[in-house]
Amino acid sequence: MQALVLIAIVIIVALFSPQAGALQQVLTEAEFDATMKEVGLTLGDAEGHIDARYWPETAVDGQRLRSMFQEVEAFWKAREVEEAAIMAADAMAASRAMTTAAKENNRESARTAFGKLRSTCARCHLDYREQTDDGYQIKPQ
Ligand code: HEC
Repeated sequence: MQALVLIAIVIIVALFSPQAGALQQVLTEAEFDATMKEVGLTLGDAEGHIDARYWPETAVDGQRLRSMFQEVEAFWKAREVEEAAIMAADAMAASRAMTTAAKENNRESARTAFGKLRSTCARCHLDYREQTDDGYQIKPQ
């Protein structure tokens, strides 16, 4: 009986351990598109929050952007497009810097991080995004 309980506990811990996240599915193209729309909205929020010195909100924007770009990075890694994955990692680093700056109530650093973050958008879009009659899509490689 005790052994069974122990086994159950081991299974539950394994299911909820951080490694279980690695089994998470990579974004589909539709999910990638939805994530980008969300990234766009969150970046707009962040700009307003930094201007207004809303630091707790800015910190949350940075965290959300970081986790979205983590999924973007995984998407490109799965496709073995190393350059795009690196740009996503740069965006993650800038998002993290924005959160750190917000926690320090440092407007100067928050603006710098925001600028770095925004520069990654254009770089990646230039190489990997194309416009079609009904919106944007991933540029065929
Ligand atoms: C690593 C590459 C990469 C980075 C970095 C990146 N994007 Fe994108 N983005 C794409 C690709 C590819 C598309 C086109 C795919 C799609 O829209 O389905 C796209 C599309 C978009 C769209 C259009 C979505 C739609 O269909 O209406 C928005 C908005 C967007 N990105 C915002 C941003 C912003 C803001 C940033 C920076 C904070 C950013 N992206 C950074 C690759 C990237």
